[in-house]
Amino acid sequence: MTDIDVLLQEHRKFPPPDAFARAANVSDPGIYERAAKDYEAFWAGCARELEWSKPFSRVLEWKPPRATWFRDGELNASVNCVDRHARGARRDKPALVWEGEPGDTLTLTYAQLLDQVCRFASVLDSLGVKKGDRVAIYLPMIPEAAIAMLGCARIGAVHSVVFGGFSAESLRDRIVDAQAKVLITADGGFRRGHVVPLKKNADDAIAETPTIEHVVVVRRTKEPIGGSPASMKAGRDQWWHDLMAKASASRPATAMNAEDILFTLYTSGTTGKPKGIVHTTGGYLTQCAYTTKAIFDLKEDDVYWCTADVGWVTGHTYIVYGPLANGATCLMYEGAPDWPAKDRFWELCEKYGVTIFYTAPTAIRAFMKWGAQHAKKHDLSKLRLLGSVGEPINPEAWMWYREHIGGDRCPIVDTWWQTETGATMISPLPGITKTTPGSATVAFPGIFAELLDNNAKRIDVGGGLLAITKPWPGMLRTIWGDDERYVRTYFSKWPGRPDLYFPGDGAKRDDDGYFWILGRVDDVLNVAGHRIGTMEVESALVDHPSVAEAAVVGKAHELKGQALAAFVTLREGTKPTTELNVELREHVANKIGAIAKPDDIIFSADLPKTRSGKIMRRLLRDIAEGRTLGDTTTLADPAVVAALRDQYEGLES
Ligand code: WTA
Repeated sequence: MTDIDVLLQEHRKFPPPDAFARAANVSDPGIYERAAKDYEAFWAGCARELEWSKPFSRVLEWKPPRATWFRDGELNASVNCVDRHARGARRDKPALVWEGEPGDTLTLTYAQLLDQVCRFASVLDSLGVKKGDRVAIYLPMIPEAAIAMLGCARIGAVHSVVFGGFSAESLRDRIVDAQAKVLITADGGFRRGHVVPLKKNADDAIAETPTIEHVVVVRRTKEPIGGSPASMKAGRDQWWHDLMAKASASRPATAMNAEDILFTLYTSGTTGKPKGIVHTTGGYLTQCAYTTKAIFDLKEDDVYWCTADVGWVTGHTYIVYGPLANGATCLMYEGAPDWPAKDRFWELCEKYGVTIFYTAPTAIRAFMKWGAQHAKKHDLSKLRLLGSVGEPINPEAWMWYREHIGGDRCPIVDTWWQTETGATMISPLPGITKTTPGSATVAFPGIFAELLDNNAKRIDVGGGLLAITKPWPGMLRTIWGDDERYVRTYFSKWPGRPDLYFPGDGAKRDDDGYFWILGRVDDVLNVAGHRIGTMEVESALVDHPSVAEAAVVGKAHELKGQALAAFVTLREGTKPTTELNVELREHVANKIGAIAKPDDIIFSADLPKTRSGKIMRRLLRDIAEGRTLGDTTTLADPAVVAALRDQYEGLES
């Protein structure tokens, strides 16, 4: 892998600037040792920074692979994120500062946010939603998304947010799996000047979901829905603004046990079906709040901006729960970075005086490609800290980010974590850690990360499988409706060691003990920071009447990190045409969402298989990336590969 060679040559180190280190929320390197010595006491200390209606007396119970944290404590996430600030000095402090893609704006102070969250909680009451019921949320990046999440949290309903870019079918599958009772959506959302027809998708999804009783619709785009404004279904659909206007603004929070479920969030796995990752209240909120405070060094006057979408875990943890638990001012933006122009993000940073900026490597690579002139047009001098998440960041992109966005002065925190981990696990502490371009550096205090070989033997320097060796507060508790899969996927990698969590990533450790995440070792791809299971895309392709068989692999992509290449065998009598190629890509977009559209579709009379009939994806990857072919001796029919390769080269030229 050429990437590894580049990484090996990386010796640049950037210590925290003195002034930053002196003022940092966490500046004592002794924190690592203290946390390692007694990680339960460390996390208990972090948990006590939250407000508990009933304090916990027990910290951790660990019967691998099952953990509970703060088991006998009670708290409510919305109280921690809103009430406790609205009650005090932060009452009139902006909590959410929002800008829509067309340029409309809204600021909600903590007091106003509390009013909205209480009203929405009352709306849920009036719709018959009870503690433990699931509520699906399918919204654009508008304040209502955060209000809906916090409203669910207030009454103990389990939210299941579905990314607004997903198709009707993806939404349907998630609603069905969660058996959600209520769906919160909008008439539409704006994306690059177009309207995304969310309500129409929602209608298509609900047609095949027996459990939805009510749909609450935010009026966002004011476009006619499904061709006419009349498609609100009587008895089922109601407007958000109508319900909110009538709702009570005082709704006490329901006390939740620390181990009660806060939310589920679906993520791609190696086999077909997305997994509903289950997070509970006390442990999740503890790690979420404390990592936000320590890694982003949040101070009272910061203006914090995480550019993720609430539909992903980054949006849950580092747009909603983490920053609000810390009483921060968060910028939220609805649209794309290049609309109406390629300087939109920098215009927003200047306009709102953003001080902390958190984005994904795929975005940074796009900014690099567009050129530094867009950032130069704007005053970015308020920025003091930059973050990166979602995939490995290439050292060149890291250096570009540092120089052109961070003015060579802002520390960069490259944060490694997953939907399953709930919050950050490996990351620099900006006031302590010497950073190096491309490395997420070291495990967060109180987190135990190691590299292991296949026999669970520790690797000190070199490459191996990433493992988390002790439980952590924000860890997933199970997979919704499929507990057996929880054990099999995450705690069965090393036989006889149900205490070792396997995240599915490969990594390398250098002489300083720094981690370099190399990416997935399973069949999950990381396209533009989003996890996509190759199986899901293959199933979507095979679902098309013309397709007999499909194999999807990842290939390196300049901007997206990885892109999808699909090798497709057509049914007897179907001709491979350019139109069919386009149609298949659209078909995948309709089944899953545009993010899963393959870049290349290669029609092939056959796929390279072993004599036992297994598709040799390794060879397909070699073909897709134009490499010399690896070992082909196990191939059933070597001619298949030669033919594919000729075809692929024809496509590239
Ligand atoms: C990858 C996103 C390298 C990794 C928070 C992980 C990263 C998957 C990094 C989780 C990083 C995330 N460096 N790789 N800083 N952060 N990843 O669940 O492969 O959407 O397993 O959570 O993204 O993706 P997920």
